[in-house]
Parts: sequence; C-alpha cells; structure tokens
Amino acid sequence: MNSLPLLKVENLSKRFGGNQAVDQVSFEMPEGIILGLIGPNGSGKTTVLNMLSGILRADDGKIFLEEQEISKLKPSALARLGVMRMFQMTRVFPRISSFDNLLIAGQAVGVSFKESVEIADQLIAELELEPVKFLDAGLLSGGQKKLLEFGMCFMRSPKLALLDEPFAAVHPQMRATMVKFILERHHQGHSFVVVSHDMPIVQQLCTECVCMNAGKVIAQGTTKEVLSNDQVIEAYLGDDHV
Ligand SMILES: Nc1ncnc2c1ncn2[C@@H]1O[C@H](COP(=O)(O)OP(=O)(O)O)[C@@H](O)[C@H]1O
Ligand SMILES: [Mg+2]
Repeated sequence: MNSLPLLKVENLSKRFGGNQAVDQVSFEMPEGIILGLIGPNGSGKTTVLNMLSGILRADDGKIFLEEQEISKLKPSALARLGVMRMFQMTRVFPRISSFDNLLIAGQAVGVSFKESVEIADQLIAELELEPVKFLDAGLLSGGQKKLLEFGMCFMRSPKLALLDEPFAAVHPQMRATMVKFILERHHQGHSFVVVSHDMPIVQQLCTECVCMNAGKVIAQGTTKEVLSNDQVIEAYLGDDHV
C-alpha cells in the first residue's frame, strides 16, 4: 500500500470578479477510493474539478498527485499523468460514430489503433452501446452520450477519474449501467472523484465525502458522518434545487 495520498489539495482558491467561488479548500484522498464531492448548487464543486483537471488555474493553493505538484499543468499534461475529466455538459464529436469517438479518444492518449479497436469493442459491450455503435454520436440520447463519454475517458485506464454529475438527467437504466461500470473499475483499484446530487448513489458508491458550501469545505469524512452532519443538512435544506 502506498501511504502517500493519491490526491492532495491545499488551500485551493478561485475568485471570479467579486465572487469567491472556491475559498481555501483542502482535502486529500487515498488511492483506490471513490470520493464524493457534494454540496448545493453554486458551492464551487465544478470549479474545484476544473482546477484539478487543469482547465482553470487556481489563484492560490496547491494540488499534488502523489508526490508531484500538478497545480500548474495543462489538461493535456494531466491526461498523460492519468487525470481524466468528465464534464457536466457532455462532450462528444457529434458527426462521427460512437465507435470512432472511442478510437479518437484512444489515439489522444497514445493507445495504438489495433489496441484501441479491441478496447473500444469491449467498452461498447460493457456500456451497452451496441445498438448505437455505428450511429453518429450526435444522434445518441443524453444518457447514451454520457455512457460514450465514460468510455472515452477509459480508453486508457485513468489513475484518477473526475466525474461531474454523471447521473444527472440520465435514464435509471443507464444510471445503473454507469454505477456498475464505476464499481467494477473501483474493484480493480481505480480512483474516482464523483460530484453528484443523487444521495442514494453517493451512499452506494462513496465511502468518503467532502461537502462544500459557498466555496468552503464544511465537512469531510466517511459518507455516513458527512451526510448526518448538521451543517451539511442545513446547507442542503437551504437549496431549492436538490
Ligand atoms: N467561469 C465562471 N465565471 C464566473 N463565475 C463563475 C464561473 N464558473 C463558476 N462561477 C461561479 O462560481 C460559483 C461556483 O460555481 P460552480 O463551481 O459551478 O458550482 P457547483 O458546481 O457547485 O454548482 C457560482 O457562484 C458560479 O456562478
Ligand atoms: Mg457544477
């Protein structure tokens, strides 16, 4: 077992104009867990993921992946280190097939064409996308696009997968496919940060959680502890969207 945390975030901060979106956020996670990042709308979760994946540069604070500081790396460099990001708004290439989307994602992370074909076939089967394998990705349902995006992130198994509300507005059957996919990868030792408002899924997937409110971490620990924390309950009760 590696005693060094896989991910360590120290005093991360980000301001947009007068809005302190992320305020001195610190947490760490060991390798191999599914960490839940929860909190009401606008609490700064997406902004934290944007900084973790190099899309936004933090104003202040540091991010470490094991012993390496990654705070100033670009998304492409982070992807090479195995930090992969799934977006709240799905991103696929709409005018090529689902299968070709996977092949391109494989190429982007340096997987050979031959190997990409094999992995893509496997992922298509696992994600139950066979009926739409050769359909333009733009014609897929919202849930199918999310599943495809999952596949695109897993053409080369990431060291750390960052998922931003993957279950939102997804058909329950596809949600179940996603949960199964995440749990299978988790059992193989993979690590995830999952942002979700779906508390039953958070309870099912995550052993540990970090809860944010108004840019700050208000609770962290086991999922059970965090979800029963008074400040967390109060933060959620004040939010109309949950
Ligand atoms: N690119 C941006 N420009 C300006 N304000 C932003 C931007 N992204 C997020 N914000 C603001 O930062 C705060 C946190 O947003 P966000 O990280 O999206 O929260 P969450 O994902 O928890 O709903 C919100 O007040 C939001 O309006
Ligand atoms: Mg968000």
